[in-house]
Amino acid sequence: MATSRAGWRSSRPSPTRTFQYEALRRKAQIGDSTSRKVLGYVTHHSPLLFRFAMSRKLKGVLNKIKELVEEMNTFGLENSVNRMEQQHTWRQTHSKLDESTELFGRDDDKKGVVKLLLDQQNQRRVQVLPIFGMGGLGKTTRAKMVYNDREVQHHFQLKIWHCVADNFDVIAILKSIIELAIDDLPENEKALARKGGWCMSGNIELLQKKLEEVIGRKRFLLVLDDVWNEEKRTWDDELKPLLCSVGGPGRSQLQKTTTFAARFAENYQVGNSLQKTL
Ligand SMILES: Nc1ncnc2c1ncn2[C@@H]1O[C@H](COP(=O)(O)OP(=O)(O)O)[C@@H](O)[C@H]1O
Ligand SMILES: [Mg+2]
Repeated sequence: MATSRAGWRSSRPSPTRTFQYEALRRKAQIGDSTSRKVLGYVTHHSPLLFRFAMSRKLKGVLNKIKELVEEMNTFGLENSVNRMEQQHTWRQTHSKLDESTELFGRDDDKKGVVKLLLDQQNQRRVQVLPIFGMGGLGKTTRAKMVYNDREVQHHFQLKIWHCVADNFDVIAILKSIIELAIDDLPENEKALARKGGWCMSGNIELLQKKLEEVIGRKRFLLVLDDVWNEEKRTWDDELKPLLCSVGGPGRSQLQKTTTFAARFAENYQVGNSLQKTL
């Protein structure tokens, strides 16, 4: 790496400098006599010679870049931005806890969150609990611990886990919540609930009616995993009013966000909002 980088520190002028110099030289030439311009085509100031020299220089630069990229790959370095984008697009989480994984130091935390959720059982307003912190700190794991807690399972009549990740699309989220709520219905009610054109519909009013129908007065717990800060406006304007109008007393949303979420947590309050930072 060091030898290649040393190559960049050559005493020769960089291609950019050469282009700048040539541009200034041509500017200064404007107004000169035609004969001197014609002469210029056959001397060392010839535009043709200049183009030829510059194309050789640029080829050299491209070769250097290629060498650097090859060295970078040998060292296993990647473009971290691309890597983050890739993760963002395919990541999907679910509510199941891997029983074989030993979890450390989160038991008291879990008890605290469970208590917060259960203590609100008579509240009529929706309770929102955002958990925020940098990626990898254990937000999803903690949400899973709470979601699978025996008391929580018993307390909430309907539990829904929806991973938002890269798709904070209100219609898609509503459809997913409706489908999960239908899946929770007794077998004999499922077929009837699935009827109708709502699943093909992009009509938010129709979906809202369906949501009310399938959730009814149930005390529900909704986990929205991987909600990103940028989605605040969509949450405030569209999703929040819809979700807050359904369900019975004590319903809760355990929201989770990823990095840069401090402001998100402040701003996402609905009714009794509780916050947890990891
Ligand atoms: N308390 C814990 N003890 C041990 N491992 C944990 C704990 N919390 C999280 N992990 C592990 O750390 C990794 C990242 O956790 P995750 O919950 O996905 O983080 P986040 O949702 O904040 O990005 C996972 O592999 C998870 O199994
Ligand atoms: Mg996560």
